[in-house]
Amino acid sequence: MKILVSYATSEGHTRKVARWVADRIHELDHSVELLPLADAKDVDLGRYDAAVMAGSVHVGHYQPDVAEFASAHATQLGRCLRCFCPYRSPRRGMMQTTGAGWSGF
Ligand SMILES: Cc1cc2nc3c(=O)[nH]c(=O)nc-3n(C[C@H](O)[C@H](O)[C@H](O)COP(=O)(O)O)c2cc1C
Repeated sequence: MKILVSYATSEGHTRKVARWVADRIHELDHSVELLPLADAKDVDLGRYDAAVMAGSVHVGHYQPDVAEFASAHATQLGRCLRCFCPYRSPRRGMMQTTGAGWSGF
């Protein structure tokens, strides 16, 4: 499979997580491209079998690139296997986010 791993990050933690995910996918002998969401705006998702998106929460919100990418590519994201990885601090009192998971089978 050919898989896109894209991410938004404010302090770099989510980039490390996304790279780790990309490395594991590569180890499984899949073709993988790792891109910041900001550089993935014009990407043709039709070239991929699956897409992983990662973003982190700051003051209750993901980076604008997350929503912009998701809405710009909503149709194609609906057609391919996809995974969203929310990344947040485990500190108490922070906003809860949904867990990561694959969908689109
Ligand atoms: C200024 C600031 C605001 C944050 N706000 C939230 C928040 O509202 N909810 C949450 O779960 N985590 C929050 N966090 C924790 C970040 O999501 C966490 O540190 C994450 O690892 C940052 O990833 P990044 O370096 O890829 O941006 C905040 C962190 C900072 C520095």
